[in-house]
Amino acid sequence: MARLGSVTEQTQKAGFETRAIHAGQEPDPTTGAVVPPIYATSTYKQDGVGGMRNGYEYSRSANPTRTALEECIAALEEGERGFAFASGLAAEDTLLRSLCKPGDHVVIPDDAYGGTYRLFKKVAEPWGLAHTPAPVTDPVAVQAAIRPGTTRIVWVETPTNPMLGIADIETLAGIAHEAGALLVVDNTFASPYLQQPLTLGADVVVHSTTKYVGGHSDVVGGALVVRDLDLAERITFHQNALGAVPGPFDAFLTHRGLKTLAVRMDRHCDNAEAVVEFLSNHPAVSQVVYPGLPDHPGHAVAGRQMKRYGGMVSFRVGGGEEQALRVCERTRVFTLGESLGGVESLIEHPGRMTHASVAGTDLEVPADLVRLSVGIETVDDLLADLDFSLGG
Ligand SMILES: Cc1ncc(COP(=O)(O)O)c(C=O)c1O
Repeated sequence: MARLGSVTEQTQKAGFETRAIHAGQEPDPTTGAVVPPIYATSTYKQDGVGGMRNGYEYSRSANPTRTALEECIAALEEGERGFAFASGLAAEDTLLRSLCKPGDHVVIPDDAYGGTYRLFKKVAEPWGLAHTPAPVTDPVAVQAAIRPGTTRIVWVETPTNPMLGIADIETLAGIAHEAGALLVVDNTFASPYLQQPLTLGADVVVHSTTKYVGGHSDVVGGALVVRDLDLAERITFHQNALGAVPGPFDAFLTHRGLKTLAVRMDRHCDNAEAVVEFLSNHPAVSQVVYPGLPDHPGHAVAGRQMKRYGGMVSFRVGGGEEQALRVCERTRVFTLGESLGGVESLIEHPGRMTHASVAGTDLEVPADLVRLSVGIETVDDLLADLDFSLGG
């Protein structure tokens, strides 16, 4: 029997879109249902003591709806094993406790999602895990932040949130491995459609599946994907021992979103490119931050490791914080809100919203910065909305 959440040889060979629709999706053996049912059950009948059917014992340990999602995301990331969690932060916390112990050290991005930073600073540090923020766009700085012998993880986001910096995954994997550490890549912003870090040498991929993977802003979730089976065993143990798993309804919604990831991502990228062009020519905008722009410092690396440049766009306005806040409050198609990666466009002020928890630290973001998650609406409506909100 294949391990739960593992990838079969057949799905490994298929194209991305085929894997998104078929990996983990064998028709139900009892009824032939094309979509795996939502297994709303906490426990499973055993055929005699210890006689489990296909490895299912109790739904914290495994549930078939969750297994289907785990197989699919593992196949899309070109990994061996996938693990689903109740949120991105639950996935991160489980990973930290699977890989680190008190006294260890990790290198983290100096431009990380605020909640990730808070996890390291307010939860992991008091527990005994030290960290050093480093710019993941600068491999020399990352190398300098490593403490040989105690650094267990080099953790990167790429593109970073919200400054859209690009980390060179292949180079950083070499640096981490040379120091005996693992490279963990938070692939939330790119999604597995645009970038597969495991194929570039990363050891673990992290997702907030709340974002592009789920894709419809209707479910919170997280995932980890690995290739190494020893690592997979450690995560399996901690996933069950800590218990931060999604229920079957959430696993179903996330998996349903994953099936359309490719078509959604292409439209997110098309619309983002049009928004970038519009903002680049707008007099109220002082800087557009997008890895697809030739003057973006990570442009060449992004071109090598990403299929396209993504749906996230950040920009700075000439009128400072006051104008940035006004822009965020005036849009009508872009919804003012946290999160990203859903079909609907969102706008936010990172300094006062997603990144408020890093104010006053090395990770503080510019006050005149606005972040867009460009959705898949009619692009002309998005451009008109931005024009209005910028006072055009
Ligand atoms: C890049 C990134 N990683 C992790 C997380 C945390 O995920 P969740 O909100 O699902 O716990 C987020 C949330 O915004 C994020 O943007």
